Amino acid sequence: MKTITNTGRTCPPPYIPSSEKMTMERLQGAYNEIADGYEKMLWFDQHILGVARHRRQLISRASGRILDLACGTGLNFPFFPPTSEIIAVDLSPRMLDVARQKAKYLNLNVQAQIMDAGKLEFGDAGFDTVTSTLSTCTFPDPIQALREMQRVCRPDGLILLLEHGHSSMPWLAQYQDRHVFQHYQQNAGCRWNQDPVDLVKTAGLKILNSQRFGLGMFYAIVAAP
Ligand SMILES: C[S@@+](CC[C@H](N)C(=O)[O-])C[C@H]1O[C@@H](n2cnc3c(N)ncnc32)[C@H](O)[C@@H]1O
Repeated sequence: MKTITNTGRTCPPPYIPSSEKMTMERLQGAYNEIADGYEKMLWFDQHILGVARHRRQLISRASGRILDLACGTGLNFPFFPPTSEIIAVDLSPRMLDVARQKAKYLNLNVQAQIMDAGKLEFGDAGFDTVTSTLSTCTFPDPIQALREMQRVCRPDGLILLLEHGHSSMPWLAQYQDRHVFQHYQQNAGCRWNQDPVDLVKTAGLKILNSQRFGLGMFYAIVAAP
């Protein structure tokens, strides 16, 4: 089966042997292990491919009661309004430890909790803004997680996503397709040739604005539930 991407090209779904598939426990273990070095690992994407600049622009739109889903080490925290109530959730306790230290350093009111993005323990429409960055590539079921974001966001709220996926540059997209399995194994279950715009549409969110950058691999998406 092939999926038509928003670039008009076809993108083979990643073939991952079932013995290699990331279970929740493996995912948690993998992120626990890299928590201390995570921000160093992301340096090139952040500062050379423009993720930090787009993150600041996108996340600065957050307001009111905010859910940061799969918050990792809290790289979004500096861009939240200082007076907001922020709930940050992630699967990895070690990533959350780093996020808590960051919140303390920034003097932010952040409640950090362990939670699965696919089964959020929140009622419907309780957040003004839901943010999630560099996460749908890793979620075992990204559509389910996006539907959960839609459910917990107020109908007039915003869902802010910064994702990466299949490049708009054919040579790079082909490279991603060829190495999808190695990348998955070496990067904590990251599927780097997904089409984030496709996923967001399939989940039923309404895209208000979408921008592509960083060798055509990164997407800043503003969506409504
Ligand atoms: C690549 S990191 C992104 C972290 C952060 N949002 C950022 O922009 O740097 C992916 C994060 O997703 C978390 N994660 C993966 N699957 C998850 C799930 N099902 N529920 C909650 N968090 C999950 C991982 O623990 C990790 O912290």
